[in-house]
Order: sequence, then structure tokens, then C-alpha cells
Amino acid sequence: MRDEIFTGKKIILGVTGCIAAYKSAYLVRELVKKGAEVKVVMTPSATEFIAPLTLSTLSRNEVIVNIFPPSQKNGTLQSTWHIDNAVWADLMILAPATINTVAKIAHGFADNALLTLVSALRCPLIIAPAADADMYQNPLTQENIKKLESLGHYIVPAEEGELASGLFGKGRLAGNDKILDAAELILSGYKKDFSGRKILVTAGPTYEDIDPVRFIGNRSSGKMGFALAKAACLRGAGVTLISGPTNETSYPEINFIKIRSAAEMKKAVVKELKANDILIMSAAVADYKPAELSNKKIKKEDKLSSIKLVETEDILASVEKKDKMVVGFALETDDELQNASKKLKSKNLDMIVLNSLKDKASGFEVETNKVTVIHKSGKKVNLPLLSKFQAANKILNEILESGKI
Ligand code: CTP
Repeated sequence: MRDEIFTGKKIILGVTGCIAAYKSAYLVRELVKKGAEVKVVMTPSATEFIAPLTLSTLSRNEVIVNIFPPSQKNGTLQSTWHIDNAVWADLMILAPATINTVAKIAHGFADNALLTLVSALRCPLIIAPAADADMYQNPLTQENIKKLESLGHYIVPAEEGELASGLFGKGRLAGNDKILDAAELILSGYKKDFSGRKILVTAGPTYEDIDPVRFIGNRSSGKMGFALAKAACLRGAGVTLISGPTNETSYPEINFIKIRSAAEMKKAVVKELKANDILIMSAAVADYKPAELSNKKIKKEDKLSSIKLVETEDILASVEKKDKMVVGFALETDDELQNASKKLKSKNLDMIVLNSLKDKASGFEVETNKVTVIHKSGKKVNLPLLSKFQAANKILNEILESGKI
């Protein structure tokens, strides 16, 4: 699906020689599908793992491997291709980046086409390193990665998991989804401005069980909360995500805690909040639960005509807020601003994000959202209709701008 942020963007994908190079085919395909114009540059060893023809076909562009293009070798072409491409690009993604290429960039080498291009680059560079666990953890590799980060490049660290060698450890290339999210983040002008901060996000619905088979739930998909957790993580925060049942997936480095009921969510929030600076309660917590939980399936012949409900505890209203930045969500269908402002005061919040169900492209189960952010000071920020990831980033901006943290 075409994506507003990627459409028309000129992206260079650099591929280096490691087994994860095969994943670059999917990355090219996704970038092209999102509307980007993609050029691929490979190191000679990358071509041992994946054929340039594959990446050329998927990118619909010639793949660059050699410093001197054949026509230049023949003496028939005067070319400054590396400068031309470096100026052309809006973004370069290096995935996978071997420890060799990482070391060479960190020390200014330019002895192949990819490195020559990197040395002349004017646009942001995303580097996603990958290697076997011992190679990745090697202190020299880690020092080089740190150096690249300090030079302003955006690092998508390797993940923990099963490696090509059969070993288990940190070194796996980050998932393509995360690399694409990082690309969206950088193309939107964000950076790791949440480094050193710790954020607790709640997401999804809660399910209040009636019997072993049935529950009372709500239509929350968890998409907004997961988008907030991912955006905060990509912007450098340490993130804990407490979620009710959803189909959404998180990143491996997000501390993910799965809960089911409002009571379980409350327990998890109280426990986790101590270690966090910011709480964003985007979960749609049930306000009521059955007064009694039947431990046997309720049968038709029981002729049940009603279920007695009791109120759940209000997590947001009751949590300890001292020295914390606390953000709530308000889902309203009527008198939206008034109701949201009332909740901001009654729950003693720093900020509330108003979600109106009046707009069809907003709310449950959709990828977009249109929200209004209301600060404690009374300041209101109306955001346009955005993807939930973009809306999440704007909400994070408001958190930074509030000056509380
Ligand atoms: N919330 C909570 N615990 C609850 C209910 C809600 O922490 N038991 C939080 C939600 O996560 C959200 C905020 O309170 O951040 C507002 O939730 P919302 O459902 O909009 O409002 P309620 O306070 O439940 O009021 P009402 O349903 O009457 O609008």
C-alpha cells in the first residue's frame, strides 16, 4: 500500500555480505510498494548471498556493485556516479551492515562502491548491523557502532534470536518492519530524543470473564498503544508495554507484559510505574466486570436473564503520580472537549488525548486516528487525520513540549 511519507522519496538500500542479505529483497519490495524510488548498492561479498538481478528486478533500477561502471572502465564514460547518487538520495538504509562495513565506515574507508557512496552522503543514514553473536558483541564492533551513532547515524541494533550458525544470541538483523518504521521516523524528521527516558504504555482492551468461555470486552484493537510504544522505542526510550488481548506485535526490546482483566492491568501498572518516568494510559479499560465469576460454563438451561456487574477500579485515577508525567486517553461520542477536560482534572493528569468516535477514519480497528491533545495548562492541539504511528509521534512531541520531563 502506498504511504504518504514514502511516496516519491529517493532511498538507497546498501546491502553487505552476510546471510541476512536475503532479507533485503523483502525490504526493497516493501519500500517500492510504499511508493519510494529505490536504488540498491551492494558490496562484492553481498553478491555471494543474493543475486544483484533479484534486487535490480525488485527495485526497477540498476544495482551498483563496482566502483567503476563497465562503460567507465572502457574509457567511454566520464562519471561521478557516487556523488550523483549521494546528492540524489533522501535516505540511505544499510541493511544488513556487516561488522566489516561498520568498521570501515567508522574509520572513513572508501574502498568499494558502497563505502564510496556512504562517504559522500548528504542525507540521513540508517545502519542495521547483523553478525553472529560473538562477532556482534566483540568490543571493537560495539565501539564502532557507538562511534557511528555519535556521528549522527541512526542505528537499528541487532536483535536477539536464533542465528545462522545455530547459536542463540544478539546479532540477528532487526525485523524489516522495524527497519521500515525507523525509515518512516527519520523521513518524518524525528530522532532519538527520548534517550534515557522510561515510558510505560498501556494498550488494548481488558476482558472481564463471565465464565470459562465468555467475557465482557470492548472493540479496542491496541493499535494506538502499540504505535506509541514503538515510536517511543525508536526515539530511544526504554519502553514497557502492558496490553490486553490484541493481534498486534511489539518489538523484541520492548518489555511486553500481557494481561487480561482490569485488575491484572492495575497490578502490572502499579508494579511497573515505579521504574518509569512517563505513563501513557491508552488502554480501553473496562469500567464494569461481572460481580461473580462462574467457574463452570453457564448452560442454556440455567435460563440466565441478567448478569450483575460491579465497577472495576479506575487505574489512572488511583496511581501514584508524584514525579511522573501522566497521560490519559478519553474516548468520547458527545461533548468531547468538555468531557475530556473533566477527565483531565478529575484524574489529575498532565495531558489527555481526546479520541472522537464521530470521525469514521478514527477510533477502533483502523490504521488512522484524529486526536486532540489537551494539556493541564488548558492548551489544546488539534492534530489532523494521521496514521496511528504519526499520531503517536505527535503525542510524544507534546509530552516533550509540556516541559514536565
Ligand atoms: N481508565 C483507567 N481505569 C479504568 C477506566 C479508564 O485507567 N477503570 C483510563 C483509560 O485508560 C483512559 C482514561 O482512564 O486513559 C479515560 O478512559 P475512558 O474510558 O475514556 O473514561 P472513563 O473514566 O472510563 O469514563 P467514561 O467511560 O464514563 O467516559
